[in-house]
Amino acid sequence: MKKYTIGVVVGSLRKDSFNKQLAHALGLMMPADFMLKNIVIGDLCLYNQDDDDNQSDPVKKLKAEIKAVDALLFVTPEYNRSIPGVLKNALDHASRPYGQNAWAHKPAGIIGVSIGAIGTAVAQQHLRTILAYLDVPTLNQPEAFIHNKEGLFESDGSISAKSRDFIAKYIKSYSEFIKSYVA
Ligand code: FNR
Repeated sequence: MKKYTIGVVVGSLRKDSFNKQLAHALGLMMPADFMLKNIVIGDLCLYNQDDDDNQSDPVKKLKAEIKAVDALLFVTPEYNRSIPGVLKNALDHASRPYGQNAWAHKPAGIIGVSIGAIGTAVAQQHLRTILAYLDVPTLNQPEAFIHNKEGLFESDGSISAKSRDFIAKYIKSYSEFIKSYVA
């Protein structure tokens, strides 16, 4: 049976990040043939086009990790109605040098949790614009704006019963979408 390797990119570096927790909880619910691998973005310097011909080891590692996976899953908070700078920094790094965009053609899902009422909707829309330019096909529906309320996660890190059906539907659509792209 084919296994699908999913590179998970979390847009928060915070130790107790809700989005890290969400990524973990999603992993617990993924189909057995989906293997999730965290793609680290916290060790990248700030992008500088002068370095395009001499990319640092963390950038080379990032690009190699992206190329090695079948698909991507972005799990990100919203910062000031957009995506966090660390995520944009990683997107920029791996998109260069010109013509060597590591993200291209990797199908992706977008999901995020926030304490704000419209939980990550604007950030996700901005991320869709960037990913379209980077030639990353994205799952359009269902959208998944998770509002973090008390009790979203169980003590074992799983999603609580209240939100489990919604997340399960998201994962079903996501896995079907990925399989439709990956031979
Ligand atoms: C936020 N937060 C936030 N929330 C939101 O829904 N919309 C927003 O525009 C913002 N803006 C914002 C900016 C900055 C700089 C910070 C630090 C936070 C709140 C955010 O949802 C909350 O801090 C989450 O807990 C961040 O996600 P992690 O780190 O828990 O994954």
